[in-house]
Amino acid sequence: MSKLTITGQKRLSGATEVQGAKNSALPILAATVLTRGESVLYHCPDLTDVEASLQILRWLGCKAQREGSTVLVQCDGISRHDIPDGLMRKNRGSLTFLGAVLAAVGKVRLSLPGGCEIGLRPIDLHLKALRRLGAVIKERRGWLDCRAPHGLKGAAVTLPFPSVGATEDIMLAACTASGTTTVTNAAREPEIRDLADYLNRCGAKISGAGSSELVIDGVQALHGAEHAVIPDRIVAATLVTCAAMTGSDITLKGVVHSHLRAVLPVFEDAGCRFEAAGNELRVFSPQRLHSMKIVRTMPYPGFPTDAQAPLLAAATVADGTTVFMENIFENRFRHAAELARMGADIKTEGKFAVVEGVPRLYGASVEAVDLRGAAALLSAGLCAEGVTELDGVRYLERGYERFEQVLSALGADVKKI
Ligand code: EPZ
Repeated sequence: MSKLTITGQKRLSGATEVQGAKNSALPILAATVLTRGESVLYHCPDLTDVEASLQILRWLGCKAQREGSTVLVQCDGISRHDIPDGLMRKNRGSLTFLGAVLAAVGKVRLSLPGGCEIGLRPIDLHLKALRRLGAVIKERRGWLDCRAPHGLKGAAVTLPFPSVGATEDIMLAACTASGTTTVTNAAREPEIRDLADYLNRCGAKISGAGSSELVIDGVQALHGAEHAVIPDRIVAATLVTCAAMTGSDITLKGVVHSHLRAVLPVFEDAGCRFEAAGNELRVFSPQRLHSMKIVRTMPYPGFPTDAQAPLLAAATVADGTTVFMENIFENRFRHAAELARMGADIKTEGKFAVVEGVPRLYGASVEAVDLRGAAALLSAGLCAEGVTELDGVRYLERGYERFEQVLSALGADVKKI
């Protein structure tokens, strides 16, 4: 298993292009099974989670290949409806194949994605919604057997929680269903809007994406389309964290500022300053961060849960106390114990983490156990005194494209061993 060694306290400088959004690319790749013809996806990040989705597409009978940051998918009807356990377990994004394959061929069989490092990750909201659209779903020994014996029919669906994945699954199942589907309390994340933009380019009729009220008018068929994946707002927030923790001024290129509306003010409270110019964002960091007082994770447009781990790392060296309230996932502070090995002072209690800022962190041997925790530990290594050895790099590679190269190009001393 590869590791990263990080020699801390190097100032960062220069500019870097923000990669395409993992959580946009994954549902869009699943959506291609609904189309006939070729789709060209630009700015599609080269990640292990994306590669896993390409493998599922090939298994189902599509052609999928990567040319640099462009992914080409040719789909002329899929020849299978079952997704093997090994392919399903590689990433959570594969759950969106549930609604897509069911809509494409009227049946789908896949293994339950199961919990992951940050929580149980139930899929009750997905299943309840698909049943509303006419799916017959049997859960047996960790497998889901879904059929739509009379096809999928538009329906009114209300989500008790604005689940991102459930909203995407419904959108994919509804866009070729007969009739109209409305989704109340839909998720509003930018990745939902990006999926709808791609589907509408393919001939779907989806309105309201990005708001909490979605309307999907079923159409007969979808064709392929060209689409540029939006920038990854969580990778952007992670790069801001790396700059903030090393007192650095850097420039992020290819940023959608409105996607960071809940993130940048928290860093401004901590003493950072930002200059936006076109799709660039200049980050200016103080010598020492102030505490952020309290950070509550919420569904979009609130503070994103995926940025909690990196921000918590920044809070460990801020001047003062920061309280984090993790409202989305039930087990998302696992990076705290590893940060404590680097000298951080963190107390966690259920959904709360209380971080007392310390003057500095010290390099240590630490292990990542989830994707955003890996990013938090890497950011901490950049600012720690001495050398940090980070194990669990495979988690980082699920969501961050060649991140050690990105950081090295900005002046960090990060090596993969
Ligand atoms: C998506 O996960 C993202 N993953 C997550 O990013 C992100 O943290 C999350 O949305 C919230 O923004 C992808 O897009 C591939 P949810 P998803 O359904 O769809 C509960 C990362 O680091 N829930 O909005 O699984 C669930 O347990 C990953 O990139 C149910 O109870 O998130 C959680 O507590 C991590 N029943 C909450 O809702 C359901 O049927 C939010 O889940 C579905 C969800």
